[in-house]
Amino acid sequence: MTFTTSRTSDTPAAPPLLPGALPLVGHALRLLNDPAGFLTAAPAHGPLSHVRLGPLTATLVSDPALTREVLLDDALYDKGGPLYDRIADVMGNGMLACPHSRHRQQRRLLQPVFHKDRLPAHLDLMAAEITHGIDQWQPDRTLDMAAQAQTLTARAIVATLFDGTLDPATVTTMVQDMSAITAGIYTHALLPAAYTRLPLPANRRYARAQRNLRTTLGRIITEHRSRTTDHGAFLSLLTEPGPDGHTLSDRDVSDQVITFFIAGMETTGNALAWAAHHLAQDPALQQHVHAEAAAVPPGPLTHTHLPALELAGRVITEALRHYPPVWLLTRTVTRHTTLGSHPLNAGDTLVISAYLVQHLPSAHPSPHRFDPDRWAPPHPTPPVPGSLIPFGLGARKCIGDALGIGELTLALAALTRRWQLTPATAARVRYERDIVIRPRNLHLHLQPRHRRT
Ligand code: HEM
Repeated sequence: MTFTTSRTSDTPAAPPLLPGALPLVGHALRLLNDPAGFLTAAPAHGPLSHVRLGPLTATLVSDPALTREVLLDDALYDKGGPLYDRIADVMGNGMLACPHSRHRQQRRLLQPVFHKDRLPAHLDLMAAEITHGIDQWQPDRTLDMAAQAQTLTARAIVATLFDGTLDPATVTTMVQDMSAITAGIYTHALLPAAYTRLPLPANRRYARAQRNLRTTLGRIITEHRSRTTDHGAFLSLLTEPGPDGHTLSDRDVSDQVITFFIAGMETTGNALAWAAHHLAQDPALQQHVHAEAAAVPPGPLTHTHLPALELAGRVITEALRHYPPVWLLTRTVTRHTTLGSHPLNAGDTLVISAYLVQHLPSAHPSPHRFDPDRWAPPHPTPPVPGSLIPFGLGARKCIGDALGIGELTLALAALTRRWQLTPATAARVRYERDIVIRPRNLHLHLQPRHRRT
């Protein structure tokens, strides 16, 4: 991208370059080391600013209305940019990373998997899997909650994708490979390509995990196609002919499974961990969430209990605001246009950040306070359009939003029904550098609640 330095009264000034860019890496290290501080400082420099990621200069959008404008026009602002280029390396033709030209056909094909009639069965499977995992925890132990929450949600998505038929060793290997992949995507997206091609242990781990996962999935899909029984799980739906009679190839099924896996495991796992963190920090809030969950009749938690879990739902909404699991999105401009008053050229890269807009004091008063009551009636929706976007917006909005919220609400209820959480150490919980906002140092102590289930 080039920018003119001299301008006339009708040429708007180019967005300012944010301070702190270093030679070669630009702002990449700041985004890796202090993403929250970097992103919340950006709006002071205007609705659009420039950020340098290695050799690439991208435009960071800091205004909710402009964020909305970008997300709603997915033909003009297509998937692309460093984040999606790396995601596409892993997910291939999967729906999350595919360009606009291929998106609508894929979405039509996959929509039935998420149809509201299928959600109850998916949610009940997930709740059973998560409850089973939570019941395995031992009393008076300290848990690494980030790791545990991720294991719970990974097993829940695996159960849903594969009918709960995989052997435990395969599940464990897949979860490990997925974790290595998601841990590598963010670094690979932000650092120069030359670094990511070096034969470093981290780069080798990233490549090996991708190869392993593909091999495992290839085997599972072959076995699945040869089976005669069908339990209505994701994989069965993906291997059936679509509404137009078209059947996905093994490679396409594998791309979509990896997409669902990445999209549905880390996101929910981290949101659950952050919600648990705040309950541990706030015993009164935890007691209320527990009382709500304990009021549900004994027996397995299912989708039918969701309406009774109103406070748990608000804690999840606030966790998704305060710690949007997908905190950065990138887009590529497909033709010359103007955003705000600034011209953009085809090929320019835009960065959108849910973290940034969800911490604007103008949209969310006291944005750094964790406060589920901000979603209590009569203000259940945010006042500023485009300022609450944990699932994105428009045609590319998360297809698993209802599933994710339902799963997380049931998981929080299952957790508080069974266990009392307290912080195990006084160490400050920090952000891990990752494609999702993952907590580091989140160690919680567990005490059993009176058992009614
Ligand atoms: C709290 C949980 C979740 C969060 C915060 C989340 C967030 C997001 C976001 C922000 C996007 C839009 C990306 C963009 O516009 O570039 C997205 C898309 C997507 N998500 Fe989720 N997600 C969650 C759960 C899930 C689950 C459970 C699944 C599936 C099992 C899923 C599958 C997808 C897919 C397939 C897309 C691509 C949709 C499209 O392009 O049409 N997500 N998600």
